[in-house]
Amino acid sequence: MYYKKLDISITSIVRESKAFLKTEPRIMNRTDDVTFNFTDNNTVFDKIPSIRRTFSKMGLTCTKASFFVMYMQEHCTIHSDVVNYPYRINIPILNCKDSSTVFYRGGLVETTYNVNGRPRHTVINEEDCVEVDRVKLDAATILDVSELHKVILTPKTKVPRISLTLSFAEELGLELLA
Ligand SMILES: [Fe+2]
Repeated sequence: MYYKKLDISITSIVRESKAFLKTEPRIMNRTDDVTFNFTDNNTVFDKIPSIRRTFSKMGLTCTKASFFVMYMQEHCTIHSDVVNYPYRINIPILNCKDSSTVFYRGGLVETTYNVNGRPRHTVINEEDCVEVDRVKLDAATILDVSELHKVILTPKTKVPRISLTLSFAEELGLELLA
């Protein structure tokens, strides 16, 4: 299983995130030319208090919140994230409706490093990968980011397409939140 949608309200998180992003042109405009934007977490939790409030009710402690910003398909290739725990929770913030997160098998990976020096595995032969599952981000969704994945835009996707991705102190299992 690659993902699970959660039946929780994300209205406050989306509203507070949009207000926060209006004050953060570096993120909105991809000024640093990175898709995965590392923002100071204390600032994010301060400006978007509903993140911690929402998940503490579920016994979860959010430790990291980052915005994932795409303007074009080239901003996301097939990769897996090198993480302590395989699952993260993603939340649709803007224009996620006409896009999909697709999971794959196969492919030769090479390790690359993002601007913060964190490793990830990038596929160098996308054409040999086989799609195994896909999900539209239209709710808070647990995703197994340790599996190969990529966000696919379509001609209908408005940009920027922005999601919020959350890491937790606790290990999430798909069954934990059943
Ligand atoms: Fe990823």
